[in-house]
Amino acid sequence: MSGIVIVGTQWGDEGKGKATDQLGERVDYVVRYSGGNNAGHTVVVGSETYALHLLPSGILNANCIPVIGNGVVVDLGVLFSEIDGLLARGVQADRILVSSNAHLITAYHQVLDRVTERFLGRRKIGTTGRGVGPAYADKVNRVGIRVQDLFDESILRQKVSASLEQKNALLVKVYNRPAISADQVSDELLQYADRLRPLMADTALVLNDALDQGKVVLFEGAQAHHLDVDFGTYPYVTSSSPIAAGACIGAGVGPTRIDRVIGIAKAYTTRVGEGPFPAELFDESGEKLRQIGGEFGTTTGRPRRCGWFDALLVNQAARINALTDIFLTKLDVLTGWEKIPIVVAYEINGVRHTTMPMTQTDLHHAKPIYEYVEGWSEDISTARQLSDLPAATRAYVTRLEELIGVRISGIGVGPGREQTVMINDLL
Ligand code: GDP
Ligand code: IMO
Ligand code: MG
Repeated sequence: MSGIVIVGTQWGDEGKGKATDQLGERVDYVVRYSGGNNAGHTVVVGSETYALHLLPSGILNANCIPVIGNGVVVDLGVLFSEIDGLLARGVQADRILVSSNAHLITAYHQVLDRVTERFLGRRKIGTTGRGVGPAYADKVNRVGIRVQDLFDESILRQKVSASLEQKNALLVKVYNRPAISADQVSDELLQYADRLRPLMADTALVLNDALDQGKVVLFEGAQAHHLDVDFGTYPYVTSSSPIAAGACIGAGVGPTRIDRVIGIAKAYTTRVGEGPFPAELFDESGEKLRQIGGEFGTTTGRPRRCGWFDALLVNQAARINALTDIFLTKLDVLTGWEKIPIVVAYEINGVRHTTMPMTQTDLHHAKPIYEYVEGWSEDISTARQLSDLPAATRAYVTRLEELIGVRISGIGVGPGREQTVMINDLL
């Protein structure tokens, strides 16, 4: 087993960070392949809690090499403040490699992210405001700035000026905002050049060599399947490809290098930001899930919208990501409910659907159809093997497995590294 992808199966915050950290002990490289510091991955190690936004969660394991792949958009201020924060806590975070092809998030991307959201008003996406969407837009529009541009000052200045020309016209004439100085942006970026130089690498070459030598490479997804720009609830998505196939593009490895794809699924459903969410609860059970699950965003602190497990979402993620395994997280949060509802179908205009509808209009009209399974009241946070779980808990897990169509190989019963029930070895 050498190339392994970890991917979110819902709308993010499934516990990818914890799963990555846990496997990190036994892998050689951990690679972020998409997104930027819109991610928030919380890892709890003993009494220490780490909130990582841009750095791969493998950084907490001294033996693995953390990599930021070409598919990531990098805010250099965030990169170095996260590195410094970890160094201050005794983590050797400056051993990270950063792709020379990764695009940069600049000050104007952050301004544009916030201004466009305000302009959209009621139709806003509810972005994290980190400049991620505008940075990816520039990449596709071929006016982006890359890591390598920092090492050719005259090219950098030309590229920043060219990129800002149109944006300044837009900012001033449409959004009624002050223009942004190209020199100021370039100067700000250049101040990071010396520190960035030793971290910059041809990461695709490094990773392919490592795979050739039989090393284990773990690709750590950020965001999730239903936030994917192609397969998510467009336009309420992020601007990249968080799905497993995105690991190939965002790290520069071919599809035949991927041996295993682990989908991370929360035992219920949450979403931050706007967009359709058929299973969303507006009653006290939604509030109870939010409080017990601590469902407040790691990046923006926003309360997460909550609902019961939606099998249609995870079933689609299983298909499109060709999942080999599921890691089910936060099962402990469901302790204490008499009955646990599961969304097994949608009713759309009087018709029952057991797969995600083809159009966004239908998804907006979808009403959840529930099946109910018995709950349990025993504390499961100390369970370490399947037989430690009450029969009702195991029945819930088995039912989810049937609905998803993929084996559940691990179960999270608490935020701690050791709070896991391992069923099948993932490496
Ligand atoms: P990510 O973005 O997918 O890495 O997930 P987040 O870190 O944003 O959100 C998951 C939250 O749940 C974090 O606070 C984790 O510490 C916590 N967590 C992860 N797994 C479990 C689990 O099995 N049980 C409980 N109670 N918390 C968990
Ligand atoms: P992790 O990796 C949850 C959501 C935002 C918004 C939409 C677009 O922690 O699971 P963006 O800033 O990316 O342009 O915002 O995507 N979003 C996330 N939601 N977890 C994340 O990351 C997210 N990253 C982006 O809330 O709805
Ligand atoms: Mg998160």
